[in-house]
Amino acid sequence: MRAVLLIGSPRGERSTSRALGAYMLEGLRSRGWEVGERYACRDVTTSEGLTDLLAEMERSDLSILSFPTYVDSPPAAVMRVMETMHGRIKRGGALLAMANCGFIGSGNNTSSLSICRLFARDIGWEWRGGLSLGGGNVLAGRALQDAGGVARNVRRALDQAVSALAEGKAVPQGAIDLLGRNIVPSLLYNITANRAWDRAARKNNVLDRIRDRPYMEEERR
Ligand SMILES: Cc1cc2nc3c(=O)[nH]c(=O)nc-3n(C[C@H](O)[C@H](O)[C@H](O)COP(=O)(O)O)c2cc1C
Repeated sequence: MRAVLLIGSPRGERSTSRALGAYMLEGLRSRGWEVGERYACRDVTTSEGLTDLLAEMERSDLSILSFPTYVDSPPAAVMRVMETMHGRIKRGGALLAMANCGFIGSGNNTSSLSICRLFARDIGWEWRGGLSLGGGNVLAGRALQDAGGVARNVRRALDQAVSALAEGKAVPQGAIDLLGRNIVPSLLYNITANRAWDRAARKNNVLDRIRDRPYMEEERR
């Protein structure tokens, strides 16, 4: 059996998308699967890259799409791959989508994953499920094996997902729910995120303007 991981993040090797996908590939490899890894941002830049990617997906028993949510949607490179696949790819493959987003609530990936699910339906591929992680930047692209306690539930959820996928099944709801839990308490996340914004603003000399709302309509009296 063969699986291909398509990494949808422009951050490439340093992305959380890759860290999550690589962990799953390792699980499948240890169960005797052949695995391959591709980067959407590279493949979409040439027609040879796209053709090659589509061929690899067609010969795989499972395609794993791992990407960050950008404005409630998969990033442009992933959309480009989907548009290309739509007209050209053979029916009968299987797709698993895994989205991670910046906000702490994994619900922020809901519309991205719906796009992938409807896409699988439209091209006649089996939908193996949508996995969703919030607060993806807490992992900051670290390998899950090295990420310690903060990634414990992430590893457990992906282990459960891999066990099902290796047998040709969809990921169980228990794995989806476990990955969907807050990776850190939301209060802690908000404090840390606010500090990071303040630091970035200070570095760019705009700390006194951080609450500006230049596109806000003037209040009518
Ligand atoms: C252009 C852009 C748009 C984004 N839009 C969202 C969004 O709509 N919701 C959200 O929760 N996070 C959003 N994020 C944050 C990323 O999803 C988040 O940082 C993610 O963990 C990055 O994953 P990666 O390391 O795999 O690229 C956005 C980030 C960028 C750069």
